[in-house]
Amino acid sequence: MSMILNNVNYVYGTGTAYEVQALTNINLKIQDGEFIGIIGHTGSGKSTLIQHLNGLIKATSGGIYYNGEDIYDDDYDLRQLRSKVGLVFQYPEHQLFETTIFDDVCFGPMNQGLSKNEAGLRAFEALKNVGMPESLYYQSPFDLSGGQKRRVAIAGVLAMKPEMLVLDEPTAGLDPKGRDEIFEQIAQMHEENHMTIILVSHSMEDVANYVRRMIVMNQGRIVYDDVPVKVFGYCRELEAIGLAAPQVTYLMQEMREAGFAVRTDVATVADAKKEILRLFGSRVSR
Ligand SMILES: Nc1ncnc2c1ncn2[C@@H]1O[C@H](COP(=O)(O)OP(=O)(O)OP(=O)(O)O)[C@@H](O)[C@H]1O
Ligand SMILES: [Mg+2]
Repeated sequence: MSMILNNVNYVYGTGTAYEVQALTNINLKIQDGEFIGIIGHTGSGKSTLIQHLNGLIKATSGGIYYNGEDIYDDDYDLRQLRSKVGLVFQYPEHQLFETTIFDDVCFGPMNQGLSKNEAGLRAFEALKNVGMPESLYYQSPFDLSGGQKRRVAIAGVLAMKPEMLVLDEPTAGLDPKGRDEIFEQIAQMHEENHMTIILVSHSMEDVANYVRRMIVMNQGRIVYDDVPVKVFGYCRELEAIGLAAPQVTYLMQEMREAGFAVRTDVATVADAKKEILRLFGSRVSR
């Protein structure tokens, strides 16, 4: 099962003075169970791209196929697609509105036509999955911390049991602890449920630890689509488009330039540590 984007273009405000070509010739194949990061400078087209994945906005030209079906076919059920591809928006907490956390998470499944009981079971499972303590289930979502509100919003999408979960900047505005917790939780969901996950972020460093494939966007185009260490190999090119490789990648490059025989295709602190210990291991006491 997969999602295929074939030569997708998207233009905002066609024919007006504000016309913007937001996506240009996007070709993409997303396989079941992948964990992908979409990275790009502000305005590069990330949010526009992911809103195509559940049919929320329609390509100006090009095709999108989900599990072999053309989502732009007249008789394709877009409502179904929206429950299979769950989208968590940028600043999702703005969409919380029910009086209790539990009711808020029930909203999606009830909307899918499930009974109150079934929706409740889904809500329990989803809130557990995002690590919300049960003592908070019947409190107002508005009294929560920023990180907790984010979790409730993610649970609201999870409760619809999507096959693919797409998160637009899920950690924007959170402190480092809140950010790590959310990323850990998402990674755990991927491990345990083998759900396809797409994570949009400004920061390559943040997602490098988690994703296995990184799609870099610039001015509405995909410029790199590869495993993170390969993408980080292009650090100078990434800088030119307003992005930075993880600090450890630069450290390894500087060590290499200073004459140390270290690998430079390193993107995480853990891998850098291994590599440095490999080089100096015989000389330093651990
Ligand atoms: N509703 C809209 N109407 C007109 N132009 C838009 C609209 N939304 C986005 N754009 C334009 O489309 C381009 C891509 O925007 P998009 O929001 O997809 O980028 P992004 O990568 O998600 O940015 P950010 O990191 O700031 O969220 C930008 O030039 C933006 O100004
Ligand atoms: Mg965006």
